[in-house]
Amino acid sequence: MTAPTPQPGILDIALYQSGKSAFEGVENPVKLSANENPWGASPKAVEAIKAALPSLHRYPGTDHQILRDAIAEHHDLPASQVICGVGSDEILHLIAQAYAAPGDEVVYTEHGFSVYPIVAKAAGATPVVAAEKDRVADVDSILSACNDNTKIVYIANPNNPTGTMIGGNEMSRLAAGLPAGCLLVIDGAYAEFADGYDGGASMVETHDNVLMTRTFSKLYGLGGLRVGWGYGPQDIIDVLNRIRGPFNLSNMQIQGAIAALEDVEFTQQCLRDTLRLRARLAADLAAIGIPSDPSNANFVLARFADEAEAEAAFNFVGKQGFILRQVGGYGLPDCLRITVGDEASCAGVTQALRAFKEAQA
Ligand SMILES: Cc1ncc(COP(=O)(O)O)c(C=O)c1O
Repeated sequence: MTAPTPQPGILDIALYQSGKSAFEGVENPVKLSANENPWGASPKAVEAIKAALPSLHRYPGTDHQILRDAIAEHHDLPASQVICGVGSDEILHLIAQAYAAPGDEVVYTEHGFSVYPIVAKAAGATPVVAAEKDRVADVDSILSACNDNTKIVYIANPNNPTGTMIGGNEMSRLAAGLPAGCLLVIDGAYAEFADGYDGGASMVETHDNVLMTRTFSKLYGLGGLRVGWGYGPQDIIDVLNRIRGPFNLSNMQIQGAIAALEDVEFTQQCLRDTLRLRARLAADLAAIGIPSDPSNANFVLARFADEAEAEAAFNFVGKQGFILRQVGGYGLPDCLRITVGDEASCAGVTQALRAFKEAQA
């Protein structure tokens, strides 16, 4: 009997590595490895999810109308051009499935989010990496990585795990310079943490080849709920809806996300605290000889002398109860990504890293 064979490309996919949540020998560590909201979800979202439980036996609506309306109102967008998914990951997948095929190329940047090559390979397409400049996306390099076979460019702005971003003029230059028929996906998972940034919404409005993705997993503290969304040209949204699972979001997901959006006070408080603590964390790390690029996200990418020092720091602070994210898989073996936690976690991880540096000296 011949064993079933998966589609070409699928066996080349390296499994996604998420931030660790345990450290051997440490009870109840502080998890600073997955860019989660340290204050959790809005209590109103929790209540809304509980209130949806009696409808467990009912199928949810297929078009997410009430969630799309809430997103549209909150972000001042047309609801018809919004699509909701199981995290923004699902939207990233749907885009590749719909627009890339064997023989096509999908471009992303050197230290770009690791889901991009996964979705490209899952579609049978070839992922192509464009070099960054000092951990920042470089438009010229992205454009020179493109050719007539390039169907999608994925760019996270701000990017994970670097925290860096490019400005509006550069993004416009990128959209304008892409080959005909190539889609630019602006991944705005961390958009809320970048002051005054719309996540790419205005780019969508002025271009027919731009789509943005957003998530409830970061600022809204709903990583475990799994809700994300995309906003793009109507014809592209219509295509994605054709292949989206009709019941991809549960009633609980839909109600929880709506309530989270409505709890503006909670979200704004989380945002203010994150930005304040991010600045302090970066400054405190710099003062103990650990530099980082200015971050536009809810984490800081700490740089060490080399891979060995980063590994030693990861283990040292891990034993003290703080789990950081190793980013060797992103081509940054000399760095550790640190989520901006609450006041105590930021002070604690800084103290642990200070002790590490002193022990090194
Ligand atoms: C840049 C970026 N995009 C997208 C995602 C996916 O988030 P989710 O599927 O939870 O919306 C993440 C999660 O870490 C991310 O860092």
